[in-house]
Amino acid sequence: EQKQLVFDASVLKYDSNIPKQFIWPDDEKPCVNAPELQVPLIDLGDFLSGDSVAAQEASKLVGEACQQHGFFLVVNHGVDATLVADAHKYMDNFFELPLSEKQRAHRKLGEHCGYASSFTGRFSSKLPWKETLSFRYSAEKNSSRIVEDYLVNKMGDEFRQFGRVYQDYCEAMSKLSLGIMELLAISLGVGRAHFREFFEENDSIMRLNYYPPCQKPDLTLGTGPHCDPTSLTILHQDQVGGLQVFVDNEWRSISPNFEAFVVNIGDTFMALSNGRYKSCLHRAVVNSHTPRKSLAFFLCPKGDKVVTPPTELVDAYSPRVYPDFTWPMLLEFTQKHYRADMNTLQVFS
Ligand code: SIN
Ligand code: FE2
Repeated sequence: EQKQLVFDASVLKYDSNIPKQFIWPDDEKPCVNAPELQVPLIDLGDFLSGDSVAAQEASKLVGEACQQHGFFLVVNHGVDATLVADAHKYMDNFFELPLSEKQRAHRKLGEHCGYASSFTGRFSSKLPWKETLSFRYSAEKNSSRIVEDYLVNKMGDEFRQFGRVYQDYCEAMSKLSLGIMELLAISLGVGRAHFREFFEENDSIMRLNYYPPCQKPDLTLGTGPHCDPTSLTILHQDQVGGLQVFVDNEWRSISPNFEAFVVNIGDTFMALSNGRYKSCLHRAVVNSHTPRKSLAFFLCPKGDKVVTPPTELVDAYSPRVYPDFTWPMLLEFTQKHYRADMNTLQVFS
């Protein structure tokens, strides 16, 4: 039987002796102040209002970033600033609740949705210094309240407004992701709508990350090094900072920008681009003074679509890099052969 950890997170954040389960091996301990990575800041305003010259310009920047490391920022993205601010405010409310209340949404072992905390979970080593709340979003027409209903069902009726905020937030992310998919298609020289069929009426995952302060931020990690197995991640980080990307053999940080979303390519899009675009290792560090929040929307392809690159991207000089697969196949494979330090696809192929 698994031993249960029960640390009181509200006490732990002041403690200068962090429990050994949170101490990472020496070769994985972070550099908390990594040098900044300059990623392109892409203004989506004109593209979203239909300007085709702006679409070409934006897609050029997107393409360059995706060949280098797969990370870029977008501004004038059309997502209401009040909605983003509310999404942060309601996160504060949730994560500041007593543990017993957060546990109403308890995430069971092996499940993708619910509340999970390293401070009160399964006994393990290399624990990340964080709590999360994850839920499923569906872009299908008859699932128009899936997020709201899930959160109200778990947390109770007084969480109706909380549920609505994340329902709206996910809808905004889903819409934005389709726009970004068009830019990616243009940048790869395939029809602008090429990837639409993979991501219309699909299911995606939303995760709220809450990182309490830690008195020994150089010994632990908020999120360990990983590549996202999904297609695209749209992340909003607060003003605290902590996201780092491994580029040219070095950890580099992505500075916070509250107006922007950080977009990155996941393994599944790397496969869709026949390896042209990179899904890069990244992680999150914590700090000793301020809780940090980030909201991650993980765009996943429709379960029945075969992930295969467009024929334009395959020829004698660019043979297929990855085998065909579906998203459920990849998920199952990841669960069986999880390697934290590698692309799922490197293991897969
Ligand atoms: C993640 O990549 O899963 C988390 C990134 C962050 O919190 O900034
Ligand atoms: Fe990630």
